[in-house]
Amino acid sequence: MTGLLQLLLLVSVTMATEPSCPACSKYDYEEKVLERMIRMEFAFEKVLKENKAVSKTVEQDLMLIKEENERLHATVDALKDQQEQAERRLDSLMEEVERNQSSTLEKIYYDSNSTLEQTIAAFNNIKDQIGIPLVYFHARTPQTTSLSTGDVIVYKTVETNQGNGYSSTTGKFTAPVWGLYSFFMHTCTAPSKYAHLQMVKEGSVLIASVQRDMDYYACSSGQVFVELDAGETVSVQCSYGDSNSHLYYDSSYWTSFGGALIHN
Ligand SMILES: *[C@@H]1O[C@H](CO)[C@@H](O)[C@H](O)[C@H]1NC(C)=O
Ligand SMILES: *[C@@H]1O[C@H](CO)[C@@H](O)[C@H](O)[C@H]1NC(C)=O
Repeated sequence: MTGLLQLLLLVSVTMATEPSCPACSKYDYEEKVLERMIRMEFAFEKVLKENKAVSKTVEQDLMLIKEENERLHATVDALKDQQEQAERRLDSLMEEVERNQSSTLEKIYYDSNSTLEQTIAAFNNIKDQIGIPLVYFHARTPQTTSLSTGDVIVYKTVETNQGNGYSSTTGKFTAPVWGLYSFFMHTCTAPSKYAHLQMVKEGSVLIASVQRDMDYYACSSGQVFVELDAGETVSVQCSYGDSNSHLYYDSSYWTSFGGALIHN
């Protein structure tokens, strides 16, 4: 205020020394200047006041912006956390899916293997039922070489007996299943001896033969095909026997009996 008054005084002194208008009084001019100065002062104060208000608002705005910035930072941090968590969850989920996948594959493999094994077992079962069972036998070496009429020849040495149809106790073959069978008898004799043999099925003759040679050890064979029901028997029998009825055998002369199931 003092500065303003000094200015005012200076102005008034200047005006006093150099009046610009002779018509107006010295004081009138000073009053006008003073009035102007006062108006300027008011305006200046108003501007100052407005300035203060503006700077206060700016300050507040800056504060708000700072707060907002902090909030945004916090939000970004939270989002980052969430993203990291989500990534970790995704990773462990992927691992689980991979584990599940491989265990599923193992299960499929295991299941298909056991299904395959079941199928093979079922197939083998059916094959056993519909296929021809393995039945065949071969026996040699008659228990007694002197023959009497009606004797059943019991071949003691069993070479093969698949299906256990032949009995080396009775000399008879018993069919384990129905089917078409093939039988043979191979018969050897010493010189001047003979053997009248026939193959019989349940007492009825299938084939009859005589083996005889006056000068040599010799053999002959007879073969027959016959259909048998399960349980029916086939054997070799002496059809005629006397004091010259003799079978012969050694390691080169096999007197034997054999057969096989060939269809059923
Ligand atoms: C993995 O398998 C388990 C057990 O079967 C199941 O509970 C789980 O949902 C599976 N996970 C996926 C990701 O498929
Ligand atoms: C199926 O399983 C059996 C027994 O579990 C095993 O011996 C066989 O090797 C398996 N087959 C295959 C193709 O893995």
